[in-house]
Amino acid sequence: MNAAELCPSILSADFWRLGEQIRTVEENGCRILHFDVMDGDFVPSISFGMPVLRTIRKETSMLMDVHMMVREPVRYVRDFADCGADSITVHLEACSDVEATLQAILDCGLTAGISVKPGTPVEEAFPYLHLCRILLVMTVEPGFGGQDYIESSTEKIRRAKAYIDEKGLDCKIQVDGGIHKRTLPIAVRAGASLLVEGSGVFRGDIAENIRQVKEQIAGLGEE
Ligand code: DX5
Ligand code: ZN
Repeated sequence: MNAAELCPSILSADFWRLGEQIRTVEENGCRILHFDVMDGDFVPSISFGMPVLRTIRKETSMLMDVHMMVREPVRYVRDFADCGADSITVHLEACSDVEATLQAILDCGLTAGISVKPGTPVEEAFPYLHLCRILLVMTVEPGFGGQDYIESSTEKIRRAKAYIDEKGLDCKIQVDGGIHKRTLPIAVRAGASLLVEGSGVFRGDIAENIRQVKEQIAGLGEE
């Protein structure tokens, strides 16, 4: 089975203590930090953007995994690259020219990711996977933390995994939304290897939450 990796999403952090909490995440061995950008248009809510990313970038060496829930994200690719993104994932549904958007990300020297919402067949992303190292299968409707995993996502992950393996593509499947103790093994067994967790990491004791996730991932690795 693929080695799975936890990507904590700071959307569920306590913003008053953001620096301290990111430090805790890093000290507890996480390599990737998930950064949710929402524009109040593609999704109903507004989160945070460039200045916050730039500030975090100065203080951490974790990989900054930017998830753009933004309409026509191509407009902001250069800005996010300049602020320190390592990867940028865009929604298929938000781009009028998906290929040009992914190419803009690659032209900045970053890793490109493509995402599908729960209602979008995952197959719609397949024509773009040769440009991507990340396929983000949303397991909730994008826009808010703390929602329940949508069970029909599991089948989408399975189909994507089969396609990626069949074509021999270098692309990892990321899942985002409602990932916690019960749903994590379901997603990993279906083929996901980048596991975004917001409330699962930041609610309660961060160090203990991360320890438990890592223990669970290690157990799955032995299957
Ligand atoms: C939701 C965001 C997620 C969110 C996940 O649109 O993309 O990254 O932080 O939160 P949880 O893990 O609480 O479902
Ligand atoms: Zn996200």
